[in-house]
Amino acid sequence: MKERLEALKQEALQELSFVASQQELNDLRVKYLGKKGPLTEVLRGMGALSAEERPVIGQVANDVRAAIEAVIEEKQAAYTKEETENRLRSEMIDVTLPGRPSQQGAIHPLSKVIQEIEDIFIGMGYTVAEGPEVEQDYYNFEALNLPKDHPARDMQDSFYITEEILMRTQTSPVQVRTMEKRKGEVPIKIICPGKVYRRDDDDATHSHMFQQIEGLVIDRNVRMSDLKGTLLQFVQEMYGPATKIRMRPSFFPFTEPSVEVDVSCAMCGGEGCRTCKQTGWLEILGAGMVHPRVLEMGGYDPKEYTGFAFGMGVERIAMLKYGIEDIRHFYTNDLRFLKQFLHV
Ligand code: PHE
Repeated sequence: MKERLEALKQEALQELSFVASQQELNDLRVKYLGKKGPLTEVLRGMGALSAEERPVIGQVANDVRAAIEAVIEEKQAAYTKEETENRLRSEMIDVTLPGRPSQQGAIHPLSKVIQEIEDIFIGMGYTVAEGPEVEQDYYNFEALNLPKDHPARDMQDSFYITEEILMRTQTSPVQVRTMEKRKGEVPIKIICPGKVYRRDDDDATHSHMFQQIEGLVIDRNVRMSDLKGTLLQFVQEMYGPATKIRMRPSFFPFTEPSVEVDVSCAMCGGEGCRTCKQTGWLEILGAGMVHPRVLEMGGYDPKEYTGFAFGMGVERIAMLKYGIEDIRHFYTNDLRFLKQFLHV
């Protein structure tokens, strides 16, 4: 029996020395040490031995088992170590690699200027109102006192969709819609930002689509001086406290009297430069006292209520603020242009 055990040990160690994979090692472990293996079998047969032989053979069997186990352990340890190393190697990251910078987006300069203008007027107690870009002729023209034969209604100037529906040419229709909605209640104090459309050929100062901000105030005793004070406050917040305004008589069908408003040139401070064509002044908006007929059509009694309205082109305001020379920059989305506004 002793010889059998020794032979078993030799055979096992021999086979183990050729082991080439974890799988083979597992197989050999089962083969020699498993419940159905030869060692177990020998140990089971010990019952038949004499009392003197039993401890001797038992000792040999344990030694054989220990010897085989030791080699298996050793090989197992090597496999485990190799596996760990492989895993660590495959999971390794190079912490010295420089990071990939992420692209930073920014608010479009026009949106920024709109937000800024909104903030200024919200600070004066206005709320923001909006209206549709596809508008009825009634709101865009008719209710704003632009009779059918008014030159501004010329098909050349507007994008008509049907006889009665067009792309709005101004944000002024939101005035009418707001009056309708408020059903004679006062005060109305709104500004309406939005896109407007005109049949213009695009060039450095014209765009077939651009953005306006409209303002409307209706209440009792609203006067021209309120309009002037409001606009002065606005331009001084927008362009700095030294900014001045002047009003020139003008004409809009929906305001009477109407004015065009100039600001002192932000580039030269009023001394005269290329931007203001040496005049020291820049026209930035149209305004006036709401025409009694417009009030009436909107459901407000002109004998009781008065109001003022103004409208400005956002692109022009932004161009003057940032020294942008071509309106098309706003819409061609050249990143070299847009990136200049990341931090303003
Ligand atoms: N809607 C006018 C325009 O587009 C501007 C304006 C608005 C003038 C309100 C007066 C009052 O030119």
